[in-house]
Amino acid sequence: MTTATTTRHAAGVTDAVKVYGSGDTAVRALDGVSVGFPAGRFTAIMGPSGSGKSTLMHCAAGLDTLTSGAAYIGDTELGTLDDRRLTLLRRDRIGFVFQAFNLVPTLTVAENISLPMDLAGSKGSRDWIDALVDVVGLRDRLHHRPSELSGGQQQRVAVARAFAGRPDVVFADEPTGNLDSRSGGEVLNLLGRAVRQMDRTVVMVTHDPVAAAHADEVVFLADGRLVDRMQSPTADKVLDRMKAFDGKGAPS
Ligand SMILES: Nc1ncnc2c1ncn2[C@@H]1O[C@H](COP(=O)(O)OP(=O)(O)O)[C@@H](O)[C@H]1O
Ligand SMILES: [Mg+2]
Repeated sequence: MTTATTTRHAAGVTDAVKVYGSGDTAVRALDGVSVGFPAGRFTAIMGPSGSGKSTLMHCAAGLDTLTSGAAYIGDTELGTLDDRRLTLLRRDRIGFVFQAFNLVPTLTVAENISLPMDLAGSKGSRDWIDALVDVVGLRDRLHHRPSELSGGQQQRVAVARAFAGRPDVVFADEPTGNLDSRSGGEVLNLLGRAVRQMDRTVVMVTHDPVAAAHADEVVFLADGRLVDRMQSPTADKVLDRMKAFDGKGAPS
C-alpha cells in the first residue's frame, strides 16, 4: 500500500457551466460545478427538482455539451472529441439507464442485453454476460419480450444492458422513477451489487433519499451548484440534509 493514494475518477466535470437559452430567458442550469466520480464507487447526485441533476449527468456523459468548463470520462476531455469520436466513446465506455426503460420491444431479453455489443460489432465476453444475467436474476426470462415482463424486470434488463459492454461508468437518471418501492429496491440493490461485486462505477441521479442511501456517497446540488457531499449516506441523513436547503421546501 502506498500512503498517498489519489482517487481515480471514472468521470467528472471541472468548472462546469451550462446555460440554456439566451437573454432574458437564459437559465443557468449549472453554475460552476467541479466534481469527480470515483472509479469503483456508487455515487448519487441529489437535489431538489430543477437543481441541475440531469443536466450534470447529461454533460458528464457526453449527451449534452457544457457552455464552459470541462467534462471528462477517465482522462478523456469530451470537449476535445469530434461527433464521431464522442459517439464511439459513449458506445464503448459509458452505459445508460433511464427512467423509461427504453428496451427494444421486438427483441428478447437476451437480445436486448447484448444489443450494445452487437451494434458495436463486438463479441464481448460470454462469461461476463452470463454472470450479469445471474446478477440481475433474469435467467428464466431470457427468451421473453419486454411486454411480458413487469416494470421492475424490464428495468433490470436495462441495467444488464448498461453493463454488458463493461463500460467505465454507468449513468442512471432516476432509474426507479417508474417503479413501485419493492421493484425500485431490487434495481437499487442490483446497481449496488454491480459496483461492489463486479467492480463497476455507477453515477445515479435521484431525488429520493431512500434511493440515494444505496450509494457510497451522495453529492448535493442546489441551484446549479455543488453544495455538499456525504459519505455512507442513510435515508434519514439525506432527508435531513435536503430539508436544510433554504427556501426550497421538500424535494420534488
Ligand atoms: N433543454 C432545456 N432548455 C431550457 N431549460 C432547461 C432545459 N433542460 C433543463 N432546463 C432547466 O435547467 C434547470 C435544471 O434542470 P435539470 O437539470 O433537468 O434539473 P433536475 O434534473 O435537477 O430536475 C431547470 O431550471 C430546468 O428548467
Ligand atoms: Mg432530472
